Amino acid sequence: MAGFEDLYNQGGAVTWQAGKENVVHQVVELLLDLDESSRVLDFGCGTGWTSEILTAGGARYLGIDPSEEGITQAGRRYGDIANARFHRLRIDESLTEALHGAKFTHVFALDALYFVPDLETTLRALRDCLEPGGRLVMIAHLYRESRVADDMVDTVTREHGLPQFLSGVQWRILLERNGWSGVQRYRFYDEHPFNPAAFIGHPPEAISLARQLYEREGALVITAGIKKPGV
Ligand SMILES: C[S@@+](CC[C@H](N)C(=O)[O-])C[C@H]1O[C@@H](n2cnc3c(N)ncnc32)[C@H](O)[C@@H]1O
Repeated sequence: MAGFEDLYNQGGAVTWQAGKENVVHQVVELLLDLDESSRVLDFGCGTGWTSEILTAGGARYLGIDPSEEGITQAGRRYGDIANARFHRLRIDESLTEALHGAKFTHVFALDALYFVPDLETTLRALRDCLEPGGRLVMIAHLYRESRVADDMVDTVTREHGLPQFLSGVQWRILLERNGWSGVQRYRFYDEHPFNPAAFIGHPPEAISLARQLYEREGALVITAGIKKPGV
C-alpha cells in the first residue's frame, strides 16, 4: 500500500475529498437511511473524512484501512467524534479477525473495494458482519464502463497494485455469487460545477481527466442486501 502512504503523506487526500464529498452527501441522504440505531463500517476509510458525514445523524462508525498514515490522520482529525473509531488493518490480519464478531447495519465503501486482491473473500466477510436487513453501499469513481478508468488503469496499477475496475453487471454477478441480493445500480454526479482550482499542482492531463470524471462519467453506486439462507 506504499502508494496510499505516499498519497496521504503528501496531502493528496484533500484533493480527493474535494472531488467526492458532494456525491457522498447525496448517497448518504438518498440511499443510507441512517439514524441513532445505525452502526456503519467504513471499509477502506483512508483518512476518515467520511466519518463526519456518516455520524452526523448519530450513527456509530468504525473506519478500517491498512494504511498507517491514513488511520493516523483519521485519528488526529476525527478521533474526537464521540461515535467514531478507526482501526488499522494489519498485513497479517484478516477482516474477520479485525472485526472481532462486531455487527453492523451498514457497510460503506468509497473507492476501496476495487483495490482488494481477494475480492470474493472480502465480499463474504463484509456480508457476514452485517445484521439481518443490513446493507452494503459502495461507490466507485473508476469502473469498467468509464473512459477515465481506461486512461488511469496503468498509473493506478503502478502506484497501488492491480485494481479491479469492474462493470456494474460484473459487480452484481460477483455480489450475488457471494451471498448478496437485491443488487441495485445507480450513477451519481457531482452537483457543483467542476473547479480546476481544487486541482492546483496537478498535471494538466490529470485535471482534464478529473473534469471528464465529474462532469460526464459520474460515480457508479451499488447497493445490496444479504441473501436469506436457503434462497
Ligand atoms: C482511493 S482510497 C479511498 C479512501 C477513502 N475511502 C476515501 O475515499 O477517501 C482507497 C483506500 O482503500 C484502502 N485499501 C486498499 N486495500 C485494502 C484492503 N485490502 N482492505 C481495506 N482497505 C484497503 C487503501 O489503503 C486506501 O485508503
